[in-house]
Amino acid sequence: MSVMIRNGRIVTADENYIADIFIEQEKVTAIGVGLPYKAEKIIDAAGKYIIPGGVDVHTHLDMPLGNISSSDDFETGTRAAAFGGTTTIIDYATQLKGMRMQDAFAAWRKKAEGKACIDYGFHMIITELPDDYLNDMDEMIDQGITSFKLFMAYPGVLMVDDSTILKAMKKAAENGGLICMHAEDGNKIEAIVRKTIAEGKTLPIYHALTRPPTTEAEAVQRAIDLAEEANVPVYIVHVSSQDALQKIIEARDKKAKVFAETCPQYLFLSIDDLEKPDFEGAKYVLTPPLRERWNQDKLWDGIKNNHLQIVSTDHCPFNFHGQKDLGINDFSEIPNGGPGIENRLHLLFDRGVLKERITINQWVAIISTTPAKLFGLFPKKGTIEVDSDADLVIWDPNKTHTISARTHHMRVDYSMYEGFKVQGFAEIVLLRGEVIINRGEWSGRSGRGRFIKRNKYTEIIE
Ligand code: URP
Ligand code: ZN
Ligand code: ZN
Repeated sequence: MSVMIRNGRIVTADENYIADIFIEQEKVTAIGVGLPYKAEKIIDAAGKYIIPGGVDVHTHLDMPLGNISSSDDFETGTRAAAFGGTTTIIDYATQLKGMRMQDAFAAWRKKAEGKACIDYGFHMIITELPDDYLNDMDEMIDQGITSFKLFMAYPGVLMVDDSTILKAMKKAAENGGLICMHAEDGNKIEAIVRKTIAEGKTLPIYHALTRPPTTEAEAVQRAIDLAEEANVPVYIVHVSSQDALQKIIEARDKKAKVFAETCPQYLFLSIDDLEKPDFEGAKYVLTPPLRERWNQDKLWDGIKNNHLQIVSTDHCPFNFHGQKDLGINDFSEIPNGGPGIENRLHLLFDRGVLKERITINQWVAIISTTPAKLFGLFPKKGTIEVDSDADLVIWDPNKTHTISARTHHMRVDYSMYEGFKVQGFAEIVLLRGEVIINRGEWSGRSGRGRFIKRNKYTEIIE
């Protein structure tokens, strides 16, 4: 099917101009003013922005945690993402202990196939790496899983020690993989948590108080040092605090290949939310924890100055009733994570672009272009140019709505942003040329999302 989008304002990470876009066979095939081609479908985008579809490189759909799973699966989660203007995700597959990476990949593909409504790739979480597993990392790269996550937190479950980190980093230096690091000092946190519970302090707020910013900063520095030792780039996930950011700034000032993301929750929510009464603070138990509000301005500065290159969601939803309440008597039993896959573009446009914290080009860069570049999807994804996938969002800059669990599409019984009024709306969303959101209504198909074999990280950004 051919599609012509007329007269929209095309906004990419570095351009902003009015033109028509012609789409054939899932791709953008022409861009220009007054394009003379006949199309089967014509969309009038006058007065609207056209941006590349959002790329969210940090999600946890259908993620097992003890006896439960995150509440969105690949169908509900990717459909909600589409409503939010995101057309590609990279989800975290997990090599659980005793499992080979190939099996983890197969298991996660099975979760996604026939369900995903948008395109998707995977990172691989490594939880153990004996020498005879090292080749698994090469195999993953060959199959388009070109990034690996390591945890410095959650001892006994996901955490790996420094020698394993170094081993994985050295392998990545050899095969071109990108290491994504969950940087929190797991052993120290564990000790503080045990002491705190022994003192009878069990409310959700203690989740934040037992994971102070110093434990994040220490781990960020250690990750940077280990990466330097292995001579490999490192990507720090979900940076939450000024203390941690400062370590990243210092390393980048010395030209270290350190990249980092933050997430909307750290820009718009704070530790105060964990104090909400009636156990409602549990809705905001995620890791690293929400910080004191003053950190938010520092993170915005970090984005503005390119110390933080990406904003992803770390979407990891658990229902308040039936899941979060597993920790009603003990904060350490509250499943960690929060929902947000649907809200990222809207929040960052309204409270970033319209509040003049970032330019509209920076907005496109942090939500789409840079994630696509850093994670080997560019220029197929993350831009609007001839031959790129026709993953497009027609964005109404004036339409407002109020975020609420009553109207959102994520399969979770609360919103972390309940009542936030936002201006700017993903009016029409196209995935490879097919309209999947039409004037705010779902018109896509479950299972149309395709696994994307990613290229290796290349140093195309600083
Ligand atoms: O609390 C969070 N962020 N849960 C998801 C797992 C992780 O560490 O990213
Ligand atoms: Zn993490
Ligand atoms: Zn995560």
